Amino acid sequence: MKTPAHAAATDPNLLEILAAEYGTPFWIWDSEVLRARIDAVVSTTEGTGVQARYAMKASSATKVLQEMKSAGVWIDSVSGNEVLRARHAGYSAGHHPPEICFTADVFRDNALATVLEEGVLPNVGSPGMVADLQRAGYTGPISLRINPGFGHGHVNECDTGGPSSKHGVWVSEIQAVREAAEAAELKIVMLHAHIGSGPQFDELHDNLSRLTDEFATIAPDFKDLEAVSLGGGIPHDYQDPDSDIPVDRLRDLFTSSQQKLSTIMGREIRLEIEPGRFYVAPAALLVTRVTDVKKTQTNEKGPGTTFAMVDAGFVDLARPAMYGSYHRITIPAATGRAETPVVVAGPLCESGDVFTRDDSEMLQPRDLPSPQTGDLMLLHDGGAYGYAMSSNYNSLGRAPQLWLEKGEVIPFTRRETIEDILRLEV
Ligand SMILES: Cc1ncc(COP(=O)(O)O)c(C=O)c1O
Repeated sequence: MKTPAHAAATDPNLLEILAAEYGTPFWIWDSEVLRARIDAVVSTTEGTGVQARYAMKASSATKVLQEMKSAGVWIDSVSGNEVLRARHAGYSAGHHPPEICFTADVFRDNALATVLEEGVLPNVGSPGMVADLQRAGYTGPISLRINPGFGHGHVNECDTGGPSSKHGVWVSEIQAVREAAEAAELKIVMLHAHIGSGPQFDELHDNLSRLTDEFATIAPDFKDLEAVSLGGGIPHDYQDPDSDIPVDRLRDLFTSSQQKLSTIMGREIRLEIEPGRFYVAPAALLVTRVTDVKKTQTNEKGPGTTFAMVDAGFVDLARPAMYGSYHRITIPAATGRAETPVVVAGPLCESGDVFTRDDSEMLQPRDLPSPQTGDLMLLHDGGAYGYAMSSNYNSLGRAPQLWLEKGEVIPFTRRETIEDILRLEV
């Protein structure tokens, strides 16, 4: 599919008007981009018995969840509060159908209570969690997350399949967990795995078909099985906005996986997928102001650097500081200026508060049209794990999120204030 360009990205006048009204930094979402991505995923599930979920941790605002809900996409949540946010956005509780699935490595805070009260499908990722559910008096169906031993993330920290991954139940422990669930009279109705968000498209395709084969081998041991989830991981190309991602090739794969599993089980098995980033990544831009441009000089420790200082930091977009992730950077008002290598750095009292870095080196100067104090700068593709990972470190309030639809802009989360921060103190 071709993703439409974000309408605000090339509209410096609109961005200045919004900056004057809401201050910087701020997030701006483009509804058209989001809907194009949702449609692309939903179109891969057109075969009978294939259902898409949204891994809502990628961006959990009600506004985004409502878009998913109206497209018929179900939810994968990862905390009690995510379940409650999905409920707030209009998703149904209960198991018929299990619109909300709750995938967890650990039951924390209100997680167990929420599973019991809302009757959502718990997707357990460790042997002890079966006992946790039993002790809490849970009697409903469960899903079992397995670690299939293959797949990878975009960086090692995000590995979700293999010996170094904490997620899921290792293959050799599956039967023991099945027996524990049977002894606790908890029906395992779904088998699940997420093999990572690192592979590029062809590798993902191969991994998903290998995963189907793995599930086909173990599925007959699960007499109550109703569904199999292949997880998320549809890649987003952070480097190239115009890349054509052949998501529609997944339709045939999902249809044939669903048929294969149904044939083996002798009844209809629902096939599920649960991407996160692919739906939302390109739909939001982080808009920040260049507050200064300054230089260091070359000495015995290394080369001199030009820093474009901006008012957004890793409190707003953590991925570059956390994983060395690449986000495109543009300066809409700078067309025609000569390019120069710059490091884009934020306001936090942390040397690592830079947006231009990779996972091996701290600074990765980027060729940008020579930034000037006062420019608005855009960090692209921040819709997934952007605002959702933001914090109020340094007591900076989280930036507001704005929604652009048919030329109109409305805020859907406001800027976090000192009152919000102090409200938690007792
Ligand atoms: C269980 C599970 N499902 C889905 C996802 C979504 O992955 P992505 O956003 O890469 O599609 C993740 C991400 O880590 C995950 O852990």
